[in-house]
Amino acid sequence: MLIRSDESGWNHKAGSEITPQRVYQDRRAWMRGVASGAAGAALALWAGRDARAQMQTPRPGKLAALAAVPSKVPGAMTMERLTTYQDASTYNNFYEFGTDKSDPLKYSTRFQTTPWSLSVEGLVKQTRTFAIEDLLKLGAQEERIYRLRCVEGWSMVIPWIGYSLSELLRRVEPLGSARFVEFVTAVDSKTMPNVDSTVLEWPYVEGLRLDEAMHPLTLLSFGMYGEILPKQNGAPVRLVVPWKYGFKSSKSLVKIRLTEEQPRTSWVKSAPREYGFFSNVNPNVDHPRWSQATERRIGEDGLFAKKRKTLMFNGYESQVASMYAGMDLRKFY
Ligand code: MTE
Repeated sequence: MLIRSDESGWNHKAGSEITPQRVYQDRRAWMRGVASGAAGAALALWAGRDARAQMQTPRPGKLAALAAVPSKVPGAMTMERLTTYQDASTYNNFYEFGTDKSDPLKYSTRFQTTPWSLSVEGLVKQTRTFAIEDLLKLGAQEERIYRLRCVEGWSMVIPWIGYSLSELLRRVEPLGSARFVEFVTAVDSKTMPNVDSTVLEWPYVEGLRLDEAMHPLTLLSFGMYGEILPKQNGAPVRLVVPWKYGFKSSKSLVKIRLTEEQPRTSWVKSAPREYGFFSNVNPNVDHPRWSQATERRIGEDGLFAKKRKTLMFNGYESQVASMYAGMDLRKFY
């Protein structure tokens, strides 16, 4: 059963923590003026961060079923400094709510995450539909601190809560003919203001090869920072695949389908030259429009902050590289 921190399910911020709107608007106007000058791009980033710091981020609260222990899966815990909750919950990609980083928080308030169910179907011995309450208890909830590297060139370090997707997949008993897994996410034009747009084909669909989906690092996640996932981060259940670019980590999952054919993913359909099916983080293979060699860690984006070198497979090489032995990663990007 879902137990939340107050009746509405939300922890509201104290009024004193919130900058009055007028002060915030004045500051924005000043920053826009400054940002049009020489160091424009860097200042705009800085201004964006300042604006995000002013946003109210209601926290969805704790849940008894999320009581989590640190993971023992090799590679699942990094000692790097965590991204703040504020940054992780205000700088998001969730195109169903808009393409600006602040849109998912702003425009997801009407999106309903209860009741929720997830079906697992296709090439499995047992097709099953799980209510979110049952799904939460299907595997032992763990905390994993993962780096997430976005294809756009930024990264975060987030403590996720969940269990390996393999726990779920083995319950449905994949058939021998299953080679891929397709992930289908929620689409609701009444509560998702951007699904009328043609920016992507909806629902948002992603995919993995079956061995990637069964890899212990592939996480089915229900929470972050010890609490329920906020809507903008993919409530009530999402995927986190830490060695792949962030767009493979599908949010608000409603259906998982095992297939023989490679799934046609939303990004591959929209721009096949730019986004491949594999999308493993790879500093040696540039995106056609920009380099992937370095990244900006969110929270280190001060005016003179240095970029970090992007690591092969986002630093998870020793855990995952063997799955791609003999593959030309330029061809299979
Ligand atoms: N899932 C859905 N349903 N819709 C999306 O637009 N964006 C992806 C991914 N999952 C996306 C999605 C992209 S591009 C990234 S980088 C990550 O979510 C961002 O996750 P975060 O906002 O929790 O950091």
